Amino acid sequence: MSKAVQQVNLSKDQDMGSLSVLHLLVLLLLSQNFSSAPYRHQQFATGDSASIRNICKTTNYNKQCVSSLKSNSSSLTADIRGLAVIMIGIGMSNATRTSTYLSSQMLSNTNDVVMKKVLKECADKYTYANDALQSSLQDLSNMSFDYAFVDVTAAKDYPNSCHNAYRRFPGLAYPPEMARREEYLVQICDIALGMIGKLLD
Ligand SMILES: *[C@@H]1O[C@H](CO)[C@@H](O)[C@H](O)[C@H]1NC(C)=O
Ligand SMILES: *[C@@H]1O[C@H](CO)[C@@H](O)[C@H](O)[C@H]1NC(C)=O
Ligand SMILES: *[C@@H]1O[C@H](CO)[C@@H](O)[C@H](O)[C@H]1NC(C)=O
Repeated sequence: MSKAVQQVNLSKDQDMGSLSVLHLLVLLLLSQNFSSAPYRHQQFATGDSASIRNICKTTNYNKQCVSSLKSNSSSLTADIRGLAVIMIGIGMSNATRTSTYLSSQMLSNTNDVVMKKVLKECADKYTYANDALQSSLQDLSNMSFDYAFVDVTAAKDYPNSCHNAYRRFPGLAYPPEMARREEYLVQICDIALGMIGKLLD
């Protein structure tokens, strides 16, 4: 697991053109790590708030994890896979909202060609993030946890790819509002990855 995660982090700054290569690489690593052993389907205790607290403690963003899961009452009866599904659902609604937000920003920046281009690119990236999360839901419902891991990893990278679009134009500041949205989606994806990692263990 850490090997795969490391690989993903190393590749973080690559442009999305290499995403498919990244996909393959991660899949390769995952299949080396996990395919030989059958998934151990543990009997996870389903969720009261104690088990939410326990799983969240194992993620990198404990507070965010607890408050996000508490916002959805289904969390109380979900197993780990169910909690991952809920977390991914939250990520999808945020990604969609950010994509909509960026599209509306385009309408109010009609005279600025560069700005419009960057906003469009970013709106697309957040749409792709949503698509990748959508795929991960299908993976999870198929019990394809390794594919789910790859898809959520891709979703987690798209906000940075939007940030890179701003970086290409030195005169263009990255708005704090976008930094906030990026951080939020990255954290949600990271939490979901922590949970999927548990399913892969
Ligand atoms: C809770 O999560 C489930 C699974 O993602 C989703 O179908 C449902 O709409 C969510 N409920 C709320 C209140 O957001
Ligand atoms: C993300 O979505 C959640 C729940 O849908 C919401 O509470 C939160 O404010 C959103 N965060 C951002 C940064 O949009
Ligand atoms: C997962 O399920 C979808 C439909 O829900 C199907 O199209 C896809 O082939 C399945 N993938 C695997 C790996 O079984």
